[in-house]
Amino acid sequence: MNIAVVGLQWGDEGKGKVIDYFAKDVDVVVRFQGGNNAGHTVVIGEKKFVFHLIPSGILRNNKISVIGNGVVIDPKVLLEEITFLKKQGIYISPRNLKVSLLAHVIMPYHKLMDSFREEERLARIGTTKRGIGPCYADKISRCGIRMVDLINPRVFSLKLKDNLREKNLLFRNVYGRKGISFKKIFTEYSYYAKLLKPYCCDILDFFYKNRRLNFLFEGAQGTFLDIDWGTYPFVTSSNTVSLNAVLGSGFSGIKIDRVVGVAKAYTTRVGEGPFPTEIKGKRGGYFRSRGKEFGATTKRPRRCGWLDLVLLREAVKINGITEVVITKLDILDELKKIKVCVGYRNSKVKPYIFSHLKKISPVYKTVKGWCSSIANIRSYNKLPREAKKYILFIEESIKRRVSHISVGQLRDAIISK
Ligand code: GDP
Ligand code: IMO
Ligand code: MG
Repeated sequence: MNIAVVGLQWGDEGKGKVIDYFAKDVDVVVRFQGGNNAGHTVVIGEKKFVFHLIPSGILRNNKISVIGNGVVIDPKVLLEEITFLKKQGIYISPRNLKVSLLAHVIMPYHKLMDSFREEERLARIGTTKRGIGPCYADKISRCGIRMVDLINPRVFSLKLKDNLREKNLLFRNVYGRKGISFKKIFTEYSYYAKLLKPYCCDILDFFYKNRRLNFLFEGAQGTFLDIDWGTYPFVTSSNTVSLNAVLGSGFSGIKIDRVVGVAKAYTTRVGEGPFPTEIKGKRGGYFRSRGKEFGATTKRPRRCGWLDLVLLREAVKINGITEVVITKLDILDELKKIKVCVGYRNSKVKPYIFSHLKKISPVYKTVKGWCSSIANIRSYNKLPREAKKYILFIEESIKRRVSHISVGQLRDAIISK
């Protein structure tokens, strides 16, 4: 049984927790896109783990974690993550962590470029400034540095020199900044290369040899941050949707049996861009404080709003979703009335062709809240009647089964429906 888990909104849906849950039933967990712009949280007892690059399945024993060719890797961040996990007593070695030789490397100039471009733009994206966009841009421009290049000193030296010639011209003449030195970067990144080399391998061969195992493909970001299907240009620079699981891992011919879509019981977004159901000003504070809606990567306050069923319906179509997991239902506990967006007044507009210049007016349905704590409930039948009605309403609107409901941060705070 192969599973893909993807976000149905603008990221931070609780994918980390859901991936950790499903990882118990598979052998291999694969990241196929994005980089350390992702922050996937898994809470086990007193311990909180936030994964940026390593698949969230690493906490389960005897699983293999793969970082696929579609991911962009900041080597320093990956090494820090390995060291942190080892300190927490998590077993990590080249036997259970495999990094694609074809994954591209985020270089210091990518991070600088990310910041410079944001400063110059009239309409800012609000990126994580982790160098994600410029790294993917270099991949497509065919001047990127891959893991296979990084671990070969001669190739690395040549490619780095070539890149710095161009980047330093840009930094000095276009952005009016200082250039960066070859020697410093070469020394630092050669050191990272030495430490990461044992983890690097030919993932295609690994998949082919192990094709009978069960795989879970871990999506990062969310459907509406997808470079094609998101609210462009306020998106990230990779394909975040389930369709990319194969391309970003090299596992061709695979049948993905379950495509699990993760959605919060409300909506959040970090960074700029359209957000029709956003609750502006202090009223958004309910979700922010109760839901602890601050970025797991950048700590920025997340913008918060009501659940948008138009988004979910489109996301179901784009990803070929077979089932949905609703997270953070417990955050709605104190609300007497809950609003849900069931359409837009200018009803033909699709999220992926939103223009940020046009205001989109949501049409809401108001449903009754349950006004009691559901955090300790573990069976669907024990949920308050209004909470069940909320879930049923979602199911009917998006025409997909809600298979699980998450009611707290902890690993066991999940209800199988
Ligand atoms: P991801 O990027 O999709 O993995 O999500 P994040 O980890 O960035 O953000 C989700 C946050 O919500 C994390 O702090 C989780 O621990 C937390 N969380 C996940 N599911 C639930 C839930 O059902 N209830 C509550 N209260 N918190 C949750
Ligand atoms: P996870 O995997 C939420 C957002 C940024 C910004 C836009 C582009 O934790 O759900 P980038 O640095 O990627 O060029 O920024 O995308 N963004 C995320 N928002 N969750 C994420 O990841 C995100 N990764 C990127 O805030 O608006
Ligand atoms: Mg996150």
